[in-house]
Amino acid sequence: MHDYRFFREMSMDTQNIASRLSASGIFRTQGLIGGKWSEAYDGNTIKVHNPTTGDVIANVPCMGKRETSDAISSAYDAFSSWSKLTASERSRCLRKWYDLIIAHKEELGQLITLEQGKPFKEALGEVTYGASFIEFYAEEAKRVYGDIIPAPVADRRLFVLKQPVGVVGAITPWNFPLAMITRKVGPALACGCTVVIKPSELTPLTALAAAELSLQAGIPPGVVNVVMGNASDIGDTLLASPQVRKITFTGSTAVGKKLLAGSAATVKKVSLELGGNAPCIVFDDADLDVAVKGSLAAKFRNSGQTCVCANRIIVQEGIYEKFANAFANAVQNLKVGDGFTEGVAQGPLINESAVQKVESFVRDAVSRGAKVMLGGKRHSLGMTFYEPTVISNVNSEMLLSREEVFGPVAPLMRFKTEDEAIQIANDTNAGLAAYIFTTNVQRSWRVSEALEYGLVGVNEGLISTEVAPFGGFKQSGLGREGSKYGIDEYLEIKYVCLGNMDSA
Ligand code: SIN
Repeated sequence: MHDYRFFREMSMDTQNIASRLSASGIFRTQGLIGGKWSEAYDGNTIKVHNPTTGDVIANVPCMGKRETSDAISSAYDAFSSWSKLTASERSRCLRKWYDLIIAHKEELGQLITLEQGKPFKEALGEVTYGASFIEFYAEEAKRVYGDIIPAPVADRRLFVLKQPVGVVGAITPWNFPLAMITRKVGPALACGCTVVIKPSELTPLTALAAAELSLQAGIPPGVVNVVMGNASDIGDTLLASPQVRKITFTGSTAVGKKLLAGSAATVKKVSLELGGNAPCIVFDDADLDVAVKGSLAAKFRNSGQTCVCANRIIVQEGIYEKFANAFANAVQNLKVGDGFTEGVAQGPLINESAVQKVESFVRDAVSRGAKVMLGGKRHSLGMTFYEPTVISNVNSEMLLSREEVFGPVAPLMRFKTEDEAIQIANDTNAGLAAYIFTTNVQRSWRVSEALEYGLVGVNEGLISTEVAPFGGFKQSGLGREGSKYGIDEYLEIKYVCLGNMDSA
């Protein structure tokens, strides 16, 4: 059944893809509250655009306070039964959800490319990556162990239980429309929490498709709820509710700080995965090919729109010229275009304001003496396409090195000594990911330990995986996602003291 709203404002290409998606049964355009697909109560909608063409893909409800309150109540009611299931019962539901995500890999990948713009191959990679969190936490559900503590008094027994924190508000970004949801919802559901998800209003369709698959997997109504629309109304309602016991957020540092402050009134648990300013240090002793390949991957993944993208490529003076030329050559070969076109490695930026930010950073660098080696302007394809760009002679005064550019611009900085590289790398309030390229094993340990970052890649530009902890130092966030550590963020620790054990 085709929704006429869905096709009216689309080009033929978008229409063909959308029509296939519509037939797949995972194309949902309503919010999910208590297991029921729901419009906004006042009938308001927002348009979801394809950033490649500007086409309107769908209208989704513009929800606010009332819908969010109902979603919280549904999650609260569902918590009492979901948290009482055995770990293996919850594990089976999650495993089924994982299987369904993988079975719909193509369609989910198409949806991601359609609403987010990343190349289809990369979108398929995101589906696999996103699904891996559900699979991993389906397994971890059965490993939420407590402790028995030797008692200091003979007639007592001391236990530690781990229990789910309760209803979780999960606020997720547009750059990974699936994986940032599964990385939060996987561990939350595994240990017995229920969730109210607020996906980005720029990319809600993947979230809704994932929610549809959660229902098909037998996850009971109310365990997963999705509301989208008015971000501040939804956020404020989640923050104000004493029933919401945990906020988990991926997004900008500025919004993260507001959520942290707003959680104080009801003393919620908070996990934040915020902005980065990743240094990528190339030492004279690096293998040039490895350094070029790794830096390219670390910088240009998702057209530079990830929190772990290399934001400053800091190169030692002995290898600077060679590296800069080889790197610029590699960047020149990145094909830009519609993510559905074979061979395209760089899609559009998410919207006009993202392009304007990139332009202002490049302008600032050039006005302060940096040199554009490649690119440096909007792409001839128009829309929000920006040329993959390499800029040399960047210094630590420029916006490009002080803040996250979140676009396909690689600033090159020069250093002389290892100590100077570490000083430049740590000279920021951010501390999410860092990369180093060196063939010296002692240096790789030394520098990894000196970097004030939550993730360090040594001779590798793509380091995210469900089995390792992801999260930042300093103002890049609080808590860790993924791995055995990620589930702790959704658990309370309860100490139980059994007294009078000798009275028999
Ligand atoms: C992000 O950009 O926030 C996430 C990137 C990743 O998971 O690798």
